[in-house]
Amino acid sequence: MLALLIIFAVSVMAMQEDQWDPVKNHMLEFKENTDGPIGMLTSSGGAPIPYCEATNSLNNRLINNEFFMDAITHVNRERIPERVVHAKGTGAFGYFEVTHDISNICKADFLNDVGKKTPIAVRFSTTQGSRGSSDLNREVRGFSIKFYTEEGNLDLIGLKTPFVSLISSMPQEEIQVVNKNREIHFVRFHILPDAGIKNLMSAEARNISSFDPDYVSRNLYQQIGKGEFPSWTVSVQILSKADVKRMGYKAFEVSRVIPTKDFPLHPIGKIVLDKNFNNFHAQIEQLAFCPSNLVPGILGGPDIMYESRRFAYRDAQSYRLGGNFKKIPVNCPFQTNTYTINRDGVGPVGSNEEDVPSYYPNSFNGPEPNSESHCSSLIKIYEEKAYNFDQAAEFYANELTSDEKTRLIENLVFELQPAVKMIQEKTIKLLTTIHPDLGNRVAKQMNLS
Ligand code: HEM
Repeated sequence: MLALLIIFAVSVMAMQEDQWDPVKNHMLEFKENTDGPIGMLTSSGGAPIPYCEATNSLNNRLINNEFFMDAITHVNRERIPERVVHAKGTGAFGYFEVTHDISNICKADFLNDVGKKTPIAVRFSTTQGSRGSSDLNREVRGFSIKFYTEEGNLDLIGLKTPFVSLISSMPQEEIQVVNKNREIHFVRFHILPDAGIKNLMSAEARNISSFDPDYVSRNLYQQIGKGEFPSWTVSVQILSKADVKRMGYKAFEVSRVIPTKDFPLHPIGKIVLDKNFNNFHAQIEQLAFCPSNLVPGILGGPDIMYESRRFAYRDAQSYRLGGNFKKIPVNCPFQTNTYTINRDGVGPVGSNEEDVPSYYPNSFNGPEPNSESHCSSLIKIYEEKAYNFDQAAEFYANELTSDEKTRLIENLVFELQPAVKMIQEKTIKLLTTIHPDLGNRVAKQMNLS
């Protein structure tokens, strides 16, 4: 009997260990880590709330009940606009560590010492769905990284597109970088998961989606919570000015693969996510990535897509988070001091730059621009005759296995079915331009051939 009990106790313990779930246990952990109530319930003005107000007893005038007034007015204002795209997502915190020196091509300080660690925030997203949509929709994925460097914040905002799925996880557009000798190169970042890439099949994804639309977000939180920290290898493809000249505008098309056989991946560092958010709204919903957050040595992209994004993101973030969105703690370049001489406005204003002189130039020891850094200008791109189908054709004809082709066609048919006939026909025409076999097979399955 005793032996049986021990076995039972051991198996219950093993089960508990197995079922330990950082998402479900979040509140329990809070309880375990605190000795009784953590403090007094207060009004937003800081005054202690008496028991009769908190329990809202019948005979109190509500207008005199500060607990009620705070709650009722706040609840009406607690939603902020969601991101216009990439609204569904989650994130975590960790660090980037340099593993290979690339100071010969880029002078950015955070890249220049092997072993140097920079704190980061990362957000993973889908593209089109709203905040409540499923993680598992067939979608282009976003992968954004904010590096809190000692020279300010650098935001890398990348996508994982299906066409590059075979070789890479997070290609950015080309970014122009400069070294100490002011020599220019172009790099494309690739962030590849050390755990490898695995995909769910459509039916499986649809099935999970029906009962767990937050499947991927939960998984990230659970892994980090259990101490199984996900990591990625960061590499760059490096192109010289001459390479870019030879490739023309195609070098700057975000959906294009730059062949790794011609431009191999050079590892530069690793990313480790080892810290979950402890408040989703404050740390993830308010996280704002801007392509214009650059650091010395990294100049951004010379293409018009990049140029339009420099405007679009800051405008979107001013709208959804307010004009002082870079002063929200998660967006602050906390590794450096900021003196922008821009003050006031709707909060948060932080210390509002205290009593620093408000204009430049001035005679009162206000902040000065960096006289040692030079303004490097971006190259200019001229687009001649654009042809956009070659890569898709090559991908279909030579990179997909016959099984993958069949799945692609099934998925296209599934997604196209609800569309009106005119759109179905237009899409089939487009698919036929990419490859006649692709168009014909989709048309046949949709009885449109
Ligand atoms: C002209 C083209 C584009 C425009 C106008 C645009 C605009 C936007 C806007 C307005 C947001 C929401 C920002 C916010 O409210 O915080 C956003 C998010 C995002 N965009 Fe773009 N975008 C464009 C192209 C791209 C490209 C080429 C990439 C990748 C290389 C990209 C990757 C992302 C990602 C990953 C997010 C989510 C950021 C996050 O996690 O908060 N976008 N985009």
